[in-house]
Amino acid sequence: MADIGKVLRDRLAAAFETVTGSTVDPALRRSRFGDFQADGAVGRPDGRAVAAAVVATVELDDLCSDVSVAGPGFVNLTLSERALADRLAAAAADPRLGVSTVEPETVVVDYSGPNAAKEMHVGHLRSTVIGDAAVRVLEHLGHAVIRQNHLGDWGTNFGMLVEHQAGGAELDPADMSAFYAAARRRFEADPDFQERSRRRVVRLQAGDPDTIAQWRTIVSTSQVYLLSVYDRLGVRLRESDFAGESRYNAALDGVVDDLLAKGLLRESDGALCAFLDGFNAPLIVRKRDGGYGYAATDLAAVRYRVDVLKATRLLYVVGAPQRQHLEMVFALARAAGWLPASVRAEHIAFGSVLGTDGKMLRSRLGAAIKLTELLDEADTRAGAIGIDALKYADLSSDRVKDYTFDFDRMLATTGDTGPYLQYAHVRVCSIFRRGDVDAVGNDFAITHPAERALALELLEFPGVVARVGETLEFHKLTTHLHAVAVSFSAFFEQCRVLEAPEPVRASRLALCALTARTLRAGLDLLGMAAPSKM
Ligand code: ARG
Repeated sequence: MADIGKVLRDRLAAAFETVTGSTVDPALRRSRFGDFQADGAVGRPDGRAVAAAVVATVELDDLCSDVSVAGPGFVNLTLSERALADRLAAAAADPRLGVSTVEPETVVVDYSGPNAAKEMHVGHLRSTVIGDAAVRVLEHLGHAVIRQNHLGDWGTNFGMLVEHQAGGAELDPADMSAFYAAARRRFEADPDFQERSRRRVVRLQAGDPDTIAQWRTIVSTSQVYLLSVYDRLGVRLRESDFAGESRYNAALDGVVDDLLAKGLLRESDGALCAFLDGFNAPLIVRKRDGGYGYAATDLAAVRYRVDVLKATRLLYVVGAPQRQHLEMVFALARAAGWLPASVRAEHIAFGSVLGTDGKMLRSRLGAAIKLTELLDEADTRAGAIGIDALKYADLSSDRVKDYTFDFDRMLATTGDTGPYLQYAHVRVCSIFRRGDVDAVGNDFAITHPAERALALELLEFPGVVARVGETLEFHKLTTHLHAVAVSFSAFFEQCRVLEAPEPVRASRLALCALTARTLRAGLDLLGMAAPSKM
């Protein structure tokens, strides 16, 4: 059964169209006057008359007990008790809680994307958490999701790293930064080492077996570290999801040849560049030294994702500072015909992580903060709840904005936090335990205003999930779940449940059960646990 908001919206839109002869967004929202309010007529000179005509035209007898006009053209709608009960029963009877599956697409989600031989930083943490929620929501909606972890595992740096390792140094998955820092120090202090590192790059690119073996060790050790972080975070990235930059090496000559043949590249200062309309900088596809960089790899990845993986939607969960890079890659790929109009490519951008001082998050010593330190602290403070709290804090902020990392706030049991939602779920579960209830019916009779508010909130879940599948604005899902938890707590304060007389008791228990399932399903989509005791 389609979600109630959508049904109302569609019927109102049809009535608006009949009345005005044009397409009008009914602008439906929840309201304290009635259950919903449609503002589509407000703001036009004939607003009140249009609203009245819409009310006269719209077919809502089966759903609403009252539809009326107010003020300059508001349409207030009140659901009938029957309709409300029917909708709740349908949601409760559905294992998917009313969330419908959609026309399935093959969606590539490019997320996490850390760099080999380096510590993950907080930006990668955001990408990992947001990308994983995207995977969960899209899979739940019925899409075929392919995770692609675009690991930075290639580039001139690896000459230095291989040379350092060949000299006996070892990369330790438990302390990634030491190896890189030591290699860097040697590189800067020792001209001979520098020269050997340069020769290593050449041998690496030429596929010299010994050098490749050394490089592979660095990459696989890095993967051990990364997989341990993913495990701690409880995200779905596996070893088989690594699709590092190096995978595209063999395709890079072809990228350049094809772009040249299509007349899309120009030489500039020895480099091959694409000058794209609407951008103030060129995209460098081949560097002056003949090497390929980040852009060439991303172009090859687009081709692979479209041609081989057959994706029709490409999501890049990457920090906002890379907007221009990705937009240029998409524009060039479109111009080359590699990204047909039938394929969407979207930058799922996110802002920086700031400390409570409003500056970029740094450790006390001023160094870039290590991800594992953050996880350790979350863990020490609250165990698995702490890690979930950290994920929730990330997902509940408007992702394109910078977000403030604050353990005290994210771990609070009140407010819009992970623990608050998890406690709400625990509270509902404890009702069933206390009352020794094992079976819940599907008969709803909603009379109390607090029950009604909770019921209306619960009915919004399917619509919210469907929209988040499009926009990937997870804060809309967290806001909704938070509203469910808040409405539940108001309901529980004002309405007796276990002590209520039948049939009210059964209806209220059914409402509690639907609340618990909604919270659980929502938390699961966010990649969070829903314990029944805490
Ligand atoms: N490794 C990159 C970084 O650390 C992120 C990769 C994002 N994905 C991509 N296809 N460019 O900034």
